Amino acid sequence: MKKIAPSILSADFTRLGEEIASVSDADYIHFDVMDGVFVPNISVGLPVLQSVRKITDMVLDVHLMITEPIRYVEQFCEAGGDIVTVHYEADDEDRIVEAMEQIRECGKRAGISIKPGTPAEVLKPFLQYADLILVMTVEPGFGGQGFMLDQVKKIEQVRKLIDQSGYKIELEVDGGINDGTAELCAEAGADVLVSGSYLFKRADRAAEIKRLQSI
Ligand code: DX5
Ligand code: ZN
Repeated sequence: MKKIAPSILSADFTRLGEEIASVSDADYIHFDVMDGVFVPNISVGLPVLQSVRKITDMVLDVHLMITEPIRYVEQFCEAGGDIVTVHYEADDEDRIVEAMEQIRECGKRAGISIKPGTPAEVLKPFLQYADLILVMTVEPGFGGQGFMLDQVKKIEQVRKLIDQSGYKIELEVDGGINDGTAELCAEAGADVLVSGSYLFKRADRAAEIKRLQSI
């Protein structure tokens, strides 16, 4: 059984409450934050997260695509994030560790993400601080991109790292997930599948979530 995390980046923001209700059978709500510096796009931030927190009890899975996330992690925890994920590439190693510690001190789950060009080995020093590892299967910044097949191997490598570590860490995959690529990721050892454009384009979202969960 896989967990499904619909990415609201692909939702209709004029009806965000209804859009979230339409995917309430999923496990997490994936909330992408982009600063226009770490990635070449700007999305949503704290006030939208606060609003989403008010209308759902679902687990809010916040993906921070921002530089020096240590500056903001506490605020994203306070605004309602349940899982807050920072990028390995977004700052020096010690400041990423510090950001992850701050997230846990807030009583939330800490995640670390790597971009497609970043090797799995860099994650080793972070395993003890992580509740979730997010492997990007597209270049972060935009929804609707094609899945990078060469990342499947990395999902397998991260799975191995997690299993060997003995820590309880979820492995999440983000970017280009559809019914076909979901299966590849599941076989490679992913626990959580983010789905944006594929899921939000469908009329039968509840049925599709069920299908993806059972992959
Ligand atoms: C991309 C974001 C993803 C995005 C996924 O930078 O991190 O969460 O919403 O969208 P799809 O599923 O359309 O690739
Ligand atoms: Zn994301």
